[in-house]
Amino acid sequence: MAKIGQDIFEAKSFLKEGKLVAIPTETVYGLAGNALNAASVASIFETKNRPSFDPLIIHISSFERVSEFVESFPEPLLLLAEKFWPGPLTLLLPRKPIIPDLVTSGLERVAVRVPNHPLTNSLLEILDFPLAAPSANPFGYISPTSAKHVQDQLGEKIPYILDGGRCQVGLESTIVGMEEDEVFIYRLGGLEVDAIERVIGPVLIKNHSSSNPQAPGLLESHYAPRKPFLLGDLDELILNHLQGKKKFGVMSLSKSFGGVNVKTQRQLSKSGDLKEAAQNLFASMRYLDEQDIEVILAEKMPAIGLGNAINDRLKRAAAQ
Ligand code: TXA
Ligand code: MG
Repeated sequence: MAKIGQDIFEAKSFLKEGKLVAIPTETVYGLAGNALNAASVASIFETKNRPSFDPLIIHISSFERVSEFVESFPEPLLLLAEKFWPGPLTLLLPRKPIIPDLVTSGLERVAVRVPNHPLTNSLLEILDFPLAAPSANPFGYISPTSAKHVQDQLGEKIPYILDGGRCQVGLESTIVGMEEDEVFIYRLGGLEVDAIERVIGPVLIKNHSSSNPQAPGLLESHYAPRKPFLLGDLDELILNHLQGKKKFGVMSLSKSFGGVNVKTQRQLSKSGDLKEAAQNLFASMRYLDEQDIEVILAEKMPAIGLGNAINDRLKRAAAQ
């Protein structure tokens, strides 16, 4: 099993040797390795079972260091970085040759982010290389939002998990880049589209894999529990399942349902707060996936703010 601790110097010594360490961020836990060391990067893909056509995000300690890794910084993206870094925003920027091909899967742009977590930010400050880090889950499964989630799935494969508690945002970063003069959102995430548009005006959303060669990793079926996951009107879904023989669990925004075992019900936010719902989403999916049930029933969130990013994850979980 991996050692779980809060020692950034111990984490650093593993990373310097080319080993992988799980790191907390405000979004989800990452599976980190030296981004400039192709062998470390290769072992990230291997450890996660991730196809190598799915590129990685590099994490840097501050805005000031980005010019070491990127050729240029288009104005609208610069404005976003100034406003939202450190934070749940990933920018696609023209890469310098120092970034190994494996990190970008050969693409011309590299995904960069300055995360916002005290432990990981102090770790990044004592390293002289950036960290490539995908979410610390086996490919296709739900992203981890606690050290225990990482231990449960990757504990046998890595030496150290830096424990930074529960992730405060709970959804992966929002990915933004430019094509010609237009700004695109390639993945809805922890930074709301409205907040982005307040800074740079209207943006286009290109959130789907099938028509999205720019972000090949955004596969339709993703973030998925092992159990069948049905998304729809909960009253109706529950009614149908009460008549059948299959044991089921329920994940709602705020409603609780009489006649359903409370142990197999999860409310993402009793007050209907979408920020709280985002924080609880992945842990609730994992919880239900581990219960003695055969199917998980869930409902969509209101399509406002973080609700859109949550719905994106719910749809991918349901697309099995
Ligand atoms: O919040 C997050 O972004 C977390 C934490 C750990 O930072 N990381 C994360 O990484 O979610 P990952 O690897 O699970 O998702 C990164 C996504 C992938 O879908 C990938 O396709 C896209 O970013 N991506 C990475 N580099 C890219 C590039 N050069 N061009 C287009 N898409 C890219
Ligand atoms: Mg991921």
